[in-house]
Amino acid sequence: MAQPAFCCERVRIELPGANGTLRLIDGLDLEIDRGDFVSVLGGSGTGKTTLLRVLGGLTAYSAGIVRYEGEVVSGPPPGTGIVFQDYGHALLTWRTVRRNVSLGIEARMPEAEVARRVGKALQMVDLEQSRDEYPWRLSGGMQQRVQIARSLAMEPSALLMDEPFGALDAMSKAALQDQLLTVQRETAATILFVTHDIEEAIYLSDRIIVLNGRPARIRLDLKIDLPRPRNQVLTKELPEYLRLRHSLYEAFKDELHG
Ligand SMILES: Nc1ncnc2c1ncn2[C@@H]1O[C@H](COP(=O)(O)OP(=O)(O)OP(=O)(O)O)[C@@H](O)[C@H]1O
Ligand SMILES: [Mg+2]
Repeated sequence: MAQPAFCCERVRIELPGANGTLRLIDGLDLEIDRGDFVSVLGGSGTGKTTLLRVLGGLTAYSAGIVRYEGEVVSGPPPGTGIVFQDYGHALLTWRTVRRNVSLGIEARMPEAEVARRVGKALQMVDLEQSRDEYPWRLSGGMQQRVQIARSLAMEPSALLMDEPFGALDAMSKAALQDQLLTVQRETAATILFVTHDIEEAIYLSDRIIVLNGRPARIRLDLKIDLPRPRNQVLTKELPEYLRLRHSLYEAFKDELHG
């Protein structure tokens, strides 16, 4: 068996709360294969963001073990990048697009290599035209692409994405979904993608994990066998897509409000 990208063994995550310690996740066993696109669904407050932060080495866990590429995670693992939902706060307003994208790499490599990577990352998210613009002059979707480009410039082997398209209109969202699938195909990165959007999860993923309960557990673990490349119209007309959509909506019947 090949080594998984991420591996959690009996992981417990506890956070301090106003009424004492909150045991958010307990006994979590999870393996994520290299190159897989895995979405995480679950009601608000189940701990999806916290789990992503634990995998990304930004939040400590209190029991069990988390590994990335076989190494115990105790800080951000080299080769992983995180994309947050709130692109507005993730970007530096006084830096141009180009210099926002170079942020994570500029101190670590020669200028020519930085320029090469930034150029390539901007090309992948189709933002070459806006390289010298400031982020606050861009639309929400463009700002989110800048944040994604910043992660891509690090040439990550894994991307952790927390509802990255949650604040976007349907058209921008569909365009970015397709761009992300192209990026994944080209880079073979492992992607862990938190979303509230059932259709989005099915459309993008090789696998969907549903968390629920307190402490949260994996309630559903679904393999998504839809053919690739996916297509916004044709994929969503496939009987298998509709079947998956049906069973996920059933699973969420009590938790979803519209
Ligand atoms: N830094 C923190 N310290 C203490 N408690 C926290 C912290 N961050 C989150 N929590 C609590 O942990 C729980 C899970 O939060 P988390 O943000 O992981 O949920 P989520 O599944 O991402 O929810 P949503 O879908 O609304 O984004 C919530 O009850 C929240 O109040
Ligand atoms: Mg969250």
